[in-house]
Amino acid sequence: MNLLALFFCTALFCVLLYHFLTRRSVRLPPGPKPWPIVGNLPHLGPVPHHSIAALAKTYGPLMHLRMGFVDVVVAASASVAAQFLKTHDANFSNRPPNSGAKHIAYNYQDLVFAPYGPRWRMLRKICSVHLFSGKALDDFRHIRQEEVSVLTRALARAGQTPVNLGQLLNNLFTAGTDTSSSTVEWAIAELIRHPTLMAQAQQELDAVVGRDRLVTELDLPQLTYLQAIIKETFRLHPSTPLSLPRIASESCEINGYHIPKNATLLVNVWAIARDPEVWEEPLEFRPSRFLPGGERPNADVRGNDFEVIPFGAGRRICAGMSLGLRMVHLLTATLVHAFDWELPEGQAAEKLNMDEAYGLTLQRAAPLMVHPRPRLSPQVFGQVAEKLNMDKAYGLTLQRAAPLIVHPQPRLSPQSFGKSMGLFSHD
Ligand code: HEM
Repeated sequence: MNLLALFFCTALFCVLLYHFLTRRSVRLPPGPKPWPIVGNLPHLGPVPHHSIAALAKTYGPLMHLRMGFVDVVVAASASVAAQFLKTHDANFSNRPPNSGAKHIAYNYQDLVFAPYGPRWRMLRKICSVHLFSGKALDDFRHIRQEEVSVLTRALARAGQTPVNLGQLLNNLFTAGTDTSSSTVEWAIAELIRHPTLMAQAQQELDAVVGRDRLVTELDLPQLTYLQAIIKETFRLHPSTPLSLPRIASESCEINGYHIPKNATLLVNVWAIARDPEVWEEPLEFRPSRFLPGGERPNADVRGNDFEVIPFGAGRRICAGMSLGLRMVHLLTATLVHAFDWELPEGQAAEKLNMDEAYGLTLQRAAPLMVHPRPRLSPQVFGQVAEKLNMDKAYGLTLQRAAPLIVHPQPRLSPQSFGKSMGLFSHD
């Protein structure tokens, strides 16, 4: 009998010891206590990147949440983000399954959701070699510039009517790129709120470009101040504030905490770029912080400096980054150079509503309604049919000297044009 009791006691001790040891070795990152069944979903609130940033103030930059039955880990500082997206990047190179990706993105065939593997690699290669390489982008430069000049002409015709800038920009950018248009809208809103910065940007543009033509992409490398404005816009208003989710292929350990296999990773890009430990007066829109003499003169937004990563980082960094950057620079430069921007009667610039809308992408809560007032020579805004350049090019064959850049307006029924398959559908 005594022997039996001893056996049971020893077994119980062993079980408890094992439990204690394994509990210690699988210490999850801290986080708010989950509710039964729904977990921490009620903690998310209408603007998840705000609520998650507020929770990180209590629980720290590496946090664990439960969404229903799914483990979620959140990175809310540059150094924790670097742990996930640099040190452990290979382990976080997949995206979690979701019904949107399954049903809208052709059963995960879309590049954004494609499983990390040979097919994903091939799609990325097509992007980097054929779609978004420096050469591919240069080949289509004139088309982007023509599109931008169409927009400026439309804006110049607006006259006394205020325009909804966000809506116009969205029409210009086709599907898959409203990340770029919302960035431009935030940049213009910030400059309207800060007239001295707007004046400084216009001064730079007048010095580099003059007032008799529109900016071109070739001017962009000389526009140092404009580049700082764009960096500052990406810092304060990253268009995907929680980036796009990744998933842990295997369990791993980060900063001494256990990250379970299949945990979803969210990187709070928005909170990282407003971290008061890293940025001086982080809520101020101050482009000069990215200029020589500023706090971060050499910071780039291309995934190398984890303090500001609007395009994500690592293997699954945004595939369209080079195009997105060119478009955001060209458009912001053009809008700042070609127009003065006035708010409707009675609206003070310093009171412009800068609230963010509810949701997972960073849209403005109130549309930016503005009056564009042309500030370049009038001929810049009008191209009239009778003045179309009909010169012949030099050479043995009869080519046009100036490419014929026109806007085809479909005149058949929409179904005649078929339905296109999208490669990109993240935004
Ligand atoms: C301002 C413009 C843009 C921003 C801020 C942006 C941001 C992002 C972010 C944060 C990610 C997730 C990266 C990660 O998981 O670490 C992403 C992925 C992606 N973006 Fe963008 N994006 C922009 C423009 C574009 C454009 C213009 C395209 C293509 C036309 C594009 C195509 C993609 C694709 C295909 C992915 C998925 C890449 C993969 O999973 O391998 N993006 N983007």
